[in-house]
Amino acid sequence: MALTEIIEIFKTKLNVSGILNSLDKAADFYGESDIYSEMDDPGETIKNNPYNGPGGAFVKNVDAGKLSGKKEVPLIKLTDVWKTYQMGESEFAALRGVNLEIYEGEFLVVLGPSGSGKSTLMNLLGCLDLPSKGTVFLNSSDISELDESELARIRGQMIGFIFQSFNLIPTLNTQENVLLPLEFLEEDARTAREKAAYLLEIVGLSDKKYNLPSQLSGGQRQRVAIARSLAVNPPVILADEPTGNLDSKTGNYILEFLYGLNKKEGKTIIIVTHDLELVKYATRIVYIRDGQIEKIEEYTQNKPEGMI
Ligand SMILES: Nc1ncnc2c1ncn2[C@@H]1O[C@H](COP(=O)(O)OP(=O)(O)O)[C@@H](O)[C@H]1O
Ligand SMILES: [Mg+2]
Repeated sequence: MALTEIIEIFKTKLNVSGILNSLDKAADFYGESDIYSEMDDPGETIKNNPYNGPGGAFVKNVDAGKLSGKKEVPLIKLTDVWKTYQMGESEFAALRGVNLEIYEGEFLVVLGPSGSGKSTLMNLLGCLDLPSKGTVFLNSSDISELDESELARIRGQMIGFIFQSFNLIPTLNTQENVLLPLEFLEEDARTAREKAAYLLEIVGLSDKKYNLPSQLSGGQRQRVAIARSLAVNPPVILADEPTGNLDSKTGNYILEFLYGLNKKEGKTIIIVTHDLELVKYATRIVYIRDGQIEKIEEYTQNKPEGMI
């Protein structure tokens, strides 16, 4: 067997290979080793991978051919969802009868202008809020029928969140911010620390473990937020304008990273944004306007010339 074949097999067995591959591209943007710090020896990485389970996966590898298959049960389903906000005497309907099903392995981009209801929709997709009318199903469960703690538990296991303003806790350092979601799982301290170290390695921030958010650049903060969103290894990553506060080069890195998680690791990615640049890797684009879905476009191949 040729050495290259052996290396390929080794890489396939490596749970982090997909992420490493996606970082390959990303590293090109940076043109230096910032991202790759301490990642020179993938064997070392795998040995220290605290996510190694019986399936051997940090994240589940999904057959790419299956990704667009719609036969399965949707991960998240919205049926005639309305969200109204009380504005003094009057009411304002931010979402008006939204129907949407999201399937495992999708890279879904919800695209719409400011004020169209994207963040409202994100809060409902992420089960952070309940609809005023209609039903949100998470893994087939009607979330309005779950009690608060049960919902928090399921949400915590299923969904990692990334926000435009990063939402890091300013008084906690990088490592502590990443550890935060694990504390709710009552993970033992040592495993939790190993996981945090591993995730920081993946996003290339091993040397910033003890920095506070204020001691990091915007791109680094968002990478901490990504590491945090991956902490419980959720199948779904939900991002609200994840590149909104970043320069285009750094934003591109974040997008490439999310793409790597989707393509190589089978994570379901949902991005809500007004930024057309972010549709680059979308398998579906949901256009939203005035609280309603205007149209949905599906892509199995590249987008038409000039679209991005
Ligand atoms: N808590 C709230 N109370 C009243 N109106 C709100 C509230 N949150 C959002 N809205 C209104 O709902 C609409 C949709 O807001 P949002 O979902 O944040 O849009 P987007 O994220 O697309 O900019 C906007 O007109 C906004 O002013
Ligand atoms: Mg918004």
